[in-house]
Amino acid sequence: MNKPALILGIESSCDDTSAAVLQDNLVLSNVIASQAVHESYGGVVPELASRAHQQNIVPVVSEALKRAGVEAKDLDAIAFTRGPGLLGSLMVGTSFAKGLSLSLNLPLIDVNHLQAHVLSCFVQLPNRESHPPAFPFLCLLVSGGNSQIIVVKAYNDMEIIGQTIDDAAGEAFDKCAKVMGLPYPGGPHIDRLAQEGDAKAFRFSKPNIEGYNYSFSGLKTSFLYTLRDALKENPDFVEERKADLCASLQATIVEILIKKLRKAVQETGIKEIALSGGVSANSGLRGVVQEYAEKNGCNAYLPPLSLTTDNAAMIAVTGYFKYLDRDFCDISLPPFSK
Ligand code: KG4
Repeated sequence: MNKPALILGIESSCDDTSAAVLQDNLVLSNVIASQAVHESYGGVVPELASRAHQQNIVPVVSEALKRAGVEAKDLDAIAFTRGPGLLGSLMVGTSFAKGLSLSLNLPLIDVNHLQAHVLSCFVQLPNRESHPPAFPFLCLLVSGGNSQIIVVKAYNDMEIIGQTIDDAAGEAFDKCAKVMGLPYPGGPHIDRLAQEGDAKAFRFSKPNIEGYNYSFSGLKTSFLYTLRDALKENPDFVEERKADLCASLQATIVEILIKKLRKAVQETGIKEIALSGGVSANSGLRGVVQEYAEKNGCNAYLPPLSLTTDNAAMIAVTGYFKYLDRDFCDISLPPFSK
């Protein structure tokens, strides 16, 4: 039997600097430094993000090695996020990974950030039972930048069968939250407030587009117009009805997401489902997917909350699969933003 592989994963695609050490797919450490600097701007400021990555990268990697009880010389490979993401942010993680691999003479593995989100279901957290989906499975990848339905046939064989034609689901959450005066990112705030509200209090428009594609721009506009009209009558409208607005908005987004997932299950016949990405932390979405799976004999994988947002454990697990195939990259490989 092969000796287990020790993989260091490095993630710096947006506003989280993260490093993780995995032994095969088991997490020994997963350190994430988030950047509070963006909060007052209501969104990620690319220049500030890359500067913060530069400050964080060395302490975050050192901490990941320390928590794992591993020395850099014991590693078998270094996996890093090559893209997509913010170029300045990616440059920091990419350059660091290359420098480390050169100095330690270790193989380097480039990882696609979206592929890593999909494969996050194979990350094994310590002392936690995990039932990853079997191939082929359908992955609903929902984050701040993406809303996709993907048929995953193997770790390196994926087909995007549907995606958003405008905003992503996370963007819809964040932009509507901003209009209500909630902090950035608004998704978790809406989720919390929605628990106390009436999901049937308001009706917002839902898209009617072909295939498995998504659209959230119409919903966003209809939400904005509802607020605009009501505020003319009552300046305290948002404050008075915030929980109902959040509950109705969340229910609409979840309904839009599940409708196409349901269609994909029915038409492909695939009954293995996985959620991934930041929005997969949403309690409404998790509840509806779980209920749908139970009623329809599907196996639904709902990720642990720590694996829903950007993290290096998912980069390392993708690196691990590529390591098994000896799928290494050259040090000259540049990062890509899209
Ligand atoms: O995957 P992710 O961490 O990174 C980006 O794609 O940027 O996703 C971030 C997104 C944000 O839009 C955030 O509002 C959303 O995930 N999000 C949520 C929840 N937690 C995070 N949306 C709804 N409900 C949540 N509980």
